[in-house]
Amino acid sequence: MVKFTVVGGDASSNLAKRIASKLKAPYIKTGKKVFPDGESKITINQIPKKSIVIVVQSTYPPVDTNLLELLSIVSKIQKFSSKIYAVIPYMGYARQDREFLGGEIVTIGVVGKLLKATGVKKVLTVDIHSKLALKELKIPSDNVSAMESLVRHVKKIKMKDPLVVSPDLGGQERAEKFASLLKTEFITLEKHRDRKTGKVNILSEKVDVRNRDLILVDDIISTGGSIIKATQFLKKQKCGRIFVACTHALLVNDAAKKIKNVGVSEIISTNTIPGESAKVDVSKVISDALR
Ligand code: R5P
Repeated sequence: MVKFTVVGGDASSNLAKRIASKLKAPYIKTGKKVFPDGESKITINQIPKKSIVIVVQSTYPPVDTNLLELLSIVSKIQKFSSKIYAVIPYMGYARQDREFLGGEIVTIGVVGKLLKATGVKKVLTVDIHSKLALKELKIPSDNVSAMESLVRHVKKIKMKDPLVVSPDLGGQERAEKFASLLKTEFITLEKHRDRKTGKVNILSEKVDVRNRDLILVDDIISTGGSIIKATQFLKKQKCGRIFVACTHALLVNDAAKKIKNVGVSEIISTNTIPGESAKVDVSKVISDALR
């Protein structure tokens, strides 16, 4: 009898195949057709054998479409298995984990309700934005870290006197872990984001980074605003080269180009979101957590 069956959603099919191969589990692919009005038609042509069914689908943009596709797959699978785990490598809405301004809806809580209602018994994600987001899901859930895998990749780059930098206080713990794995030091910048406009500013005044190669570490790069402002600030302090490592490279619109234009040498991210910078594979860390 097989223990697991892996079903890959359209947003994460390559990663899902890798997870299935690591778990030595059968892999079921899904089909997708998008109608002119934007609706998706999802198909699953194979019925999973009696097993724990792992549905893999990240919810990067188009966030709501990818989320609805995940929910649709789960609601179909639920007819054949009572044990469904949702692996959501990049969890959209995790940054909406609290009411920052009056009247805001904590949408990650709604995502949790939807997952539960369609039949998900457990959620596994990678480097979720905050512990609070995981708690707000209100469904059994686990979070695994891609930091060790990212560090393994970064170690291959020949850097001069490397220093890890967190662009903000929220990322300090992550940067500390990254630096300790890289056997080097870290610093944290002070960042301010205007909650209404989304604009970012670096409030730090002076840091000692002269001639050192830097590695900016973050969980998510979305518009690139945080990395761009941090890079501009660090360049003024006469640092060496700047590399960027993150788990989830959303890189919306032309964020990657803008980041390169301010002088970042390389962006390194994971395959929670496919793309040019996704050089680090998280299938092992995910499958190890599922076993
Ligand atoms: C913020 O707290 C996160 O850790 C990231 O720094 C942020 O989401 C990045 O967004 P952007 O690229 O739009 O500045």
